[in-house]
Amino acid sequence: MTRNLHKSSAMVITRAEQSGDEVAIRRVNQIAFDRPEEANLVDALRGSEAWLSELSLVAEDDSGIVGHALFSVVDLNGGVELLSLGPMAVVSHRQRTGVGKALVMHGLERARQTTYPLVVVLGHPGYYPRFGFEPARRLGVDTPYDVPDEAWMALRLPAYDEKRPRGTVRYPPAWAVCD
Ligand SMILES: CC(C)(COP(=O)(O)OP(=O)(O)OC[C@H]1O[C@@H](n2cnc3c(N)ncnc32)[C@H](O)[C@@H]1OP(=O)(O)O)[C@@H](O)C(=O)NCCC(=O)NCCS
Repeated sequence: MTRNLHKSSAMVITRAEQSGDEVAIRRVNQIAFDRPEEANLVDALRGSEAWLSELSLVAEDDSGIVGHALFSVVDLNGGVELLSLGPMAVVSHRQRTGVGKALVMHGLERARQTTYPLVVVLGHPGYYPRFGFEPARRLGVDTPYDVPDEAWMALRLPAYDEKRPRGTVRYPPAWAVCD
């Protein structure tokens, strides 16, 4: 890791989740999604084999934790492992102030230092392409979910060219809380 703390606009710091952050992370996800499923998913993934503690990132300002982004491990048909971005949540009053961007940029910087070939995300097609995400099916990577092409995206990491993985993502059992 080159740096552990990142400062961005509006005095937000992004950092890896630490012990004691769990309740605040739960709160941020519940507020942003206005339902408990995503918070439950984060809690279910924490401690599982899919969890990478340095890739559960929080954004913090003077008021405390205001955003969270999780990159966790999924695999393609039980083979090559990838990173999956999500859930990603910013509290309502801090949305559209660059907090999400700071979280994604920090996470991708860390992801680029790994040997995973891709980051996949199921999300807003108007948001993620700015970070380099492209439609994942064009790369031969599919999702078990019935979602439009433009909402299912992937970003190539440095290890991509060596592996060029193809197949359908298999989500670990913890994801069932979101079904
Ligand atoms: C989506 C989300 C994480 C973005 O974080 P953020 O801190 O608000 O985003 P940023 O400030 O970095 O970026 C703002 C940009 O994101 C865009 N954006 C924000 N929410 C968006 C949405 N729901 N759909 C499309 N674009 C969105 C804004 O239009 C803005 O674009 P612009 O720069 O072209 O004006 C945040 O809005 C959020 O928590 N939303 C509710 C939960 C959610 O939908 N999570 C993501 C699931 S994929």
